Amino acid sequence: MKILITGASGQLGTELCHLLDANGIVYKATDTSQLDITDKEQVVSFFNQEKPEVVYDCAAFTAVDAAEEEPGRTVNQTVNVQGTKNLAHATESIGATLVYISTDYVFDGTNLAEYLEDDTPKPKNEYGRAKLTGERAVQETVSKHYIIRTSWVFGEYGKNFVYTMQDLAKTHHELSVVNDQVGRPTWTKTLAEFMMYCVNERVAYGLYQLSNEGSCSWYEFACEILKNQDVKVNAVDSTQFPQKAYRPKHSVMNLDKAKATGFKIISWQDALHAFQRQIK
Ligand SMILES: NC(=O)c1ccc[n+]([C@@H]2O[C@H](COP(=O)([O-])OP(=O)(O)OC[C@H]3O[C@@H](n4cnc5c(N)ncnc54)[C@H](OP(=O)(O)O)[C@@H]3O)[C@@H](O)[C@H]2O)c1
Repeated sequence: MKILITGASGQLGTELCHLLDANGIVYKATDTSQLDITDKEQVVSFFNQEKPEVVYDCAAFTAVDAAEEEPGRTVNQTVNVQGTKNLAHATESIGATLVYISTDYVFDGTNLAEYLEDDTPKPKNEYGRAKLTGERAVQETVSKHYIIRTSWVFGEYGKNFVYTMQDLAKTHHELSVVNDQVGRPTWTKTLAEFMMYCVNERVAYGLYQLSNEGSCSWYEFACEILKNQDVKVNAVDSTQFPQKAYRPKHSVMNLDKAKATGFKIISWQDALHAFQRQIK
């Protein structure tokens, strides 16, 4: 099976490369300099030449606040919408399978229950709107696709909340963290494993949601990250930390469909502690 990874130097892409290496699976990893997904001609000629059978698309513009104003808004549209469309058309033209990663930000977070895959999306920020347009392009264009929505991603190979909290704890005795936004943290390793599982186990094509089990507020997440450290964590309201982009208050996605595939999902606490042991 010929495998292509886009955005391979990002947080998820790097994790996926390590996972495939560990499983002895050969793949072609590309970053922006090798395959810019916004360059339609380059994408078409790359696909015609390489003829990948599976495309793990880890490329995205992920600066959620920057996406609210120029030039971020344009880059967000170009990468997350046009880039995704380019990949979708190129994938379909050679009959390959596309694995596309989406986000809980396709929801507005006003539902206090868990969001199901079929619930009507209602993104309230530019990034969420662009990723939803990407989802729809994949659904409409690619016969063989997996769309995997995820949330609150952390892992060894990128900037994320866990590293931010650990770094702040080195210089602060007290931290304030918002307690009125609830979601599901996701370890890149769990997500990469599910991506590989879908392809290798020939799971039914379609839309899935994948995070670690359980949910928490950012405050609760921070308490768990720093639980063995001498730092006081204070719970505050999100009005204390105004951000450009709207953040959902309760973006907890239901995981039953992913679990029904037979994939075992560990809790976010177990994932976090395994990750912390790994980076020690
Ligand atoms: N991080 C989260 O909390 C989160 C939450 C929900 C969903 N997601 C989704 O998860 C996926 C992976 O995110 P991540 O955390 O791994 O993001 P990331 O670390 O920002 O990685 C994204 C990668 O995409 C590459 N990229 C950007 N523009 C590109 C282009 N035009 N052509 C090719 N590659 C391009 C970036 O390369 P450069 O560095 O060269 O720009 C980067 O390596 C994305 O689809 C994202 O939307 C992430």
